[in-house]
This record gives sequence, C-alpha cells and structure tokens, in this order.
Amino acid sequence: MSLTRRQLLASSLAVLAKAAPTRRLSRFDSQAGRLLATLTLEEKVGQMTQPDHKYINNLDDIARLHVGSVLSGGDSDPASGNDWKSWTDLYDRIQSAALTAKPRIPLLYGIDAVHGHNNVIGAVIFPQNIALGCTRDPGLVGRAARVTAEEVRATGIQWAFAPCVAVPQDIRWGRVYEGYSESPDVVEVLGAAAVHGLQGSALDHPLSVAACAKHFVGDGGTSFGTGIRHLLDQGDTRVDEATLRRVHLPGYISAIQAGAVTIMPSYSSWNGVRCSGHRKLLTDILKNELGFEGFLISDYNALDELPGNRKQQVEQSINAGMDMVMVPERYHEFYETLCGLAKSGEVPMTRIDDAVTRILRVKFAMGLMEPNRNLLADRSLHATFGSAEHRAVARECVRKSMVLLKNDKRVLPLARNAARIHIAGKCADDIGNQCGGWTIFWQGASGAVTEGTTILAAMRKASGSSARVTYSRDGNGAAGAAVGVAFIGETPYAEMQGDRMSLDLAAEDVAVVENLKRAGIPVVVVLISGRPLIIESVLERADAVIAAWWPGSEGDGVADVLFGDYKPTGKLSFTWPSRAATSIARSDPGYKTLFPFGYGLSY
Ligand code: BGC
Ligand code: BGC
Repeated sequence: MSLTRRQLLASSLAVLAKAAPTRRLSRFDSQAGRLLATLTLEEKVGQMTQPDHKYINNLDDIARLHVGSVLSGGDSDPASGNDWKSWTDLYDRIQSAALTAKPRIPLLYGIDAVHGHNNVIGAVIFPQNIALGCTRDPGLVGRAARVTAEEVRATGIQWAFAPCVAVPQDIRWGRVYEGYSESPDVVEVLGAAAVHGLQGSALDHPLSVAACAKHFVGDGGTSFGTGIRHLLDQGDTRVDEATLRRVHLPGYISAIQAGAVTIMPSYSSWNGVRCSGHRKLLTDILKNELGFEGFLISDYNALDELPGNRKQQVEQSINAGMDMVMVPERYHEFYETLCGLAKSGEVPMTRIDDAVTRILRVKFAMGLMEPNRNLLADRSLHATFGSAEHRAVARECVRKSMVLLKNDKRVLPLARNAARIHIAGKCADDIGNQCGGWTIFWQGASGAVTEGTTILAAMRKASGSSARVTYSRDGNGAAGAAVGVAFIGETPYAEMQGDRMSLDLAAEDVAVVENLKRAGIPVVVVLISGRPLIIESVLERADAVIAAWWPGSEGDGVADVLFGDYKPTGKLSFTWPSRAATSIARSDPGYKTLFPFGYGLSY
C-alpha cells in the first residue's frame, strides 16, 4: 500500500469515527411490514414511481397514484422562477398533495444537488468533484456536503442524487468532472465522506439529506465509440469481472458502509447488458453480496434503453432488482404496466414487496413517518442559505483544489501592490463559466447565471487596489502591465453533450495567451475546465500554469492562491495527457503523460 493510500485511509477513518455508527436499515422492517400489509397493489406500485414535477399536469395524480417520490431533473425549475422561495413553494405544494392520500405516506423529493444545491439561484456552488479530488481531503469534502445538505433542506427537499462515485478512465467523457478521480482509492474515500456529510449523523435529523451513490456500476469505464453518437456516454464497459470489481466497485462498498440509503444504476452497460436490467449486478452483487438494504432508483428514462417493448423493459428492470423508477413523463404508463405485470405474475409479488419495503425503510429511517413530524419546508433555514459561512467552506475547497503545474520563473505568487495586472480570457468574468455543468441549468451556461464572486472581481478585491487590475477578454491592452493572467479553458457542458473527440484548447484561448505574450510581459495561465486539456499550445509561452478546474461561485479562493495567501497544495486526481499521445485513453499503448497522477507543485 502506497503512503498516499495509507494516509487517505487514516484520515477517512477519522471522519468515519466521528460519524454515528452505521445502523442497519432493516431495523425498520417491522414498521415497514405493518404498513406494507395494508397497501393495495396499486398503492405499492405508486411508491415505486417517480415522475418529474414538470410533467405532472394534475397535482391530484400524486395522491391518486400514491406516488412515492417526485424529482426535479436538470432543467425542471419551478414555473415561478429559480429562487429559493419558488423552490420551497414547489416542494411544499408537491408534498402537500401527497399528504392528502390515504394511507398517508410522505414522498421523497429528489434533486441533483451535485456541487451544492446547484439548481437554485443564490445557493453556494462548490467546485466540481474533479476539483475536490485534488484536495484529497475527506474532512473538507464532508463539510462541503453538510453545507449542501443544509441548503437543500432549506427548500424542503430531502434527497440528493449524489455523490457520483464514477471512476472515469477516459477524460473525453462529458461526465469526467463528476468523478473525484481516475483512482478508485481516492473515490472510495471521498465518496464515503460525501455520504456522511449529506446524511449527517442521524438520518432523521431535520438537516439530513438522503444520499444516492451513482451510477452503478462502471459508468466511467465505457469504451470509446460505444456510447451516444459513437462516443462514451451511456456506452458499454468492456472489462472482465475482476477489473470491474477492482476499479469501479470500491466506491459503492464504501458508500454502503457509510450508510448511503439509495443507489442509482447506470445507463451504461457491462459487456453488452444494460446495468438498469442487470440482475447479477443489482441483486446478486449489490443486494445479496454487499448487503445493500436501501433502494435502487433508476436513471432518467433509463428503462427506455432496455431491449423490447415497454412491458418487457419494465419486467426486466424490476425483476433485475430496480426498486423505484425515474419515469419523468410517462408515469401513468409505467404504473399501469407494472400493475399488469404484477397481476399476471410476470413480476412476482415478492419482488414488489421487497422494493416497497426498501422504500419504506428509508422513509421510516428519515423520520418522515413520525406522526407529528413537520413535513413542509422549514423556512427558518433560509437565514443561512448562501450565507457567508457556507461560502467560506466553498472558498476553502477552491483553494485546496487548485493544482500548480508550472512555475519556472516564480511568477507566482503575484505581488500585491506592484504594478498593473492585466487579466484576460473568457472565464475571468463569467460566473457561469467558472461553475460549469449542472449549474442552474442541466448543461450549465455562460453568463451571470447565479450569485457569487467572479474571478475578476475577486482579483480586484485581492490585489490591494482595484485600479491596478485591467481586463480585456481577448488579452489586448496588456502592454505595460507587470504580469498578464489568462483564465481560459472550457465552457459548461453535461453528460453526453460534453463527450469530445479532441481536448485541444480553443483557438480563442490560445490567442489570449499570444496577445499577452506579445505585450512582452510574464504570463500566467489559469485553466478553468471540467478536465485536463491538451495544453502544449500555450505551455511554452506561459511562465506559470495552474489548474483551477470549475471552481464554482467563490472566485475568492482562486485569488487566495494566486496572491499566495494560500500556497497550492492540490495534487492531480487524474493523469494529464500530452499532445504527443496518439490516444487519450490511458489504457491505450499510444498514451503519453504530460503530468502524472498526484502531480502538483507549490510556492
Ligand atoms: C433533464 C436532466 C436529465 C436529462 C437526461 C434533461 O432534460 O433535465 O435532468 O438528466 O434530460 O437526458
Ligand atoms: C443523470 C443522473 C441524474 C438524473 C436526474 C440523468 O440524466 O444521468 O445523473 O441524477 O438525470 O437529473
């Protein structure tokens, strides 16, 4: 065992020791069983159904169908707006509709709170997981998840589709930034820390949020060419079982040990069979071998990818072990199909009862079934929503995730109160570009999408005198400055839309660095991106290069490092490829490394 791995485990054990001992969910089986015995088949199937709120045209559907859960997908905002009040009102409206049903079973509201409560304007946006991976700091990842949980609960919501414990093996994948690392050792430690942070020390605490480890299993291992549009996303993971277990499974083992109450099977396949319908993976390995007692939630419309007609898809998935189905729009159809399959015996009642027992266990464990529990949002929590205290945790994440790749002439740290600093690049003054995907929109977006501090604003504040900072997007006007700093990289994307053939820097970005260089001044390049990029086109011209990933809403953390208030400590959580590589997949013989895994300089 390498020293790093040992250190990681030691610190994670410290985190685990502080958390409450994991208590088995099956301790709620007598209560769940008593309730289950009173439910009709239709009521049971309803518990297994999860529509997206934006497709619920008639709120009465919720009670009529005994819907067990509702989600908001990446672009399913409240009709009235994207602020916390609109989200809270939406949650209250949906939950109130569920509470009119008899028997009264509160619903779980799920959302992708994957780097903060990232759908809500004004929430603190944390660096993406790829950045957190570079901190190697489970304590910090746990604190970030705790803040996220509190902001999620401020809107009433009690379930986050996080953490993503993918172990991405090919950085051309559009979800690579959702993974902490290419190394299962890092993922298992940080994933468990995030579960602890979200779920807190007791699941029934009003500030705890149910976690969801995703996407089970091997989502980060798909072979290039097997995914959507012949790329990677939702493709086929062609590895033997030993490799699957060694690389892609450890994150789930530690998440289960940490108490994760839900897991999301992946869109992707393992050797040609979709995970959403894979009985060996879902039932034999996850539930029987690993002893997972929570429930499985399918991915968004994932059953559509299974072979056959609707009936065959539902039958295959439920019989394989799926417990709840994310069926955003066609939920009536799913409900009727599954009721029919249960009546004909094609899906055995024992399987339905197992699924519903698992869902009810989680609802009991979370305290939702307590008679006097207030199930509407606690609006007093808005006092700390997006607060300075919460932002300070995100700022610390930003500082600790930045990785210094080059600093030959010691241009960094920047001198305070020296001469003028010229700032440039498309990511310098754009909160959307610094947050990346899954921010306010499913794909994220450039522009002033939410509240926070742009890097430019942070640099002005930190420089000592804002008059000494000038800015141009393209790098013109830098002549006479003491130093030029280019913030370049990627604009936001998510999932399949981020799959790429090439990771070369955009011509616009290279031009920024050339313009700064032409001014005859030292040049610092700060990469703002969801992954390592091919950077040789600027590497020679840059005197210093630092990777800041997609740091989120707290640009101050970037300034803290550039001005040396915090010395860089981040270590690469992914290997960084060289332009000379003929392939960007690390497993290919033509792969060449520019910076190895674990690399990172300091001042
Ligand atoms: C939804 C996302 C979802 C995606 C799946 C989008 O329309 O907003 O939540 O992940 O579809 O393709
Ligand atoms: C994604 C999941 C996400 C779900 C709900 C899917 O497209 O793969 O990661 O949790 O949508 O938005």
